[in-house]
Amino acid sequence: MKRLTELLEKNREWADKINQEDPLFFETLAQQQAPEYLWIGCSDSRVPANEIVDMLPGELFVHRNVANVVVHTDMNCLSVIQYAVEVLKVKHIMVVGHYGCGGVAASIEQEAHGLIDNWLRNIRRVFQKHSDFLSVWDHSHQQLDRLCELNVIEQSVNVCETTIVQQAWENGQDLTVHGWIYGLSDGLVNDLEFNASGIAEVEEQYQLAMSKMNKLRELAEASDKGQQSPRSLWDKVKSIFN
Ligand code: CO
Repeated sequence: MKRLTELLEKNREWADKINQEDPLFFETLAQQQAPEYLWIGCSDSRVPANEIVDMLPGELFVHRNVANVVVHTDMNCLSVIQYAVEVLKVKHIMVVGHYGCGGVAASIEQEAHGLIDNWLRNIRRVFQKHSDFLSVWDHSHQQLDRLCELNVIEQSVNVCETTIVQQAWENGQDLTVHGWIYGLSDGLVNDLEFNASGIAEVEEQYQLAMSKMNKLRELAEASDKGQQSPRSLWDKVKSIFN
């Protein structure tokens, strides 16, 4: 029999340290959970939700799965969204992808991966929908970055199209859905500028986000097929639109 003694010891040390710094920390936290944000992100161990936005436990409600996919038949994800929206009354839902996502990469590989291919099929569909757009980058890592971004935008729309979010908006609830992507190599979040706060804004925000993606493609084509880092390309796009 094996026990995770080391981790359990670390847990005790951690709890002691927190108690010394703030004796009321756990007591306050245990009394209520009132986060304003629901984070839907990738399971990737390098993308820890509250740390990235420098928030404490209790400030962020979190759902993670492989490649931050939102499907309307996934009871797990839908239940999290329902609880967050209807009970916790979060004001923001952010879909947070990340560059270099292994799940997104696997979705367009030819080889079979078993069961997970059924899950990744959702991303492959995003790839097929935007195949013209993505063709500029061939099979480079730049293309993967763009697919990671497109996946965030499409999954953000999926969040907006859940009955839960639609109902909340019909009831006049203050709720915005955001599309973000995180850079493993620099620790920075890139706002993909999809920010929908109502039914009428979904298509508008989708078109706006896509027009920025198209501008990015234009710039990449003008340079040498996107040899520049996504960050510098995005900086240019944002300076054009703002
Ligand atoms: Co990932």
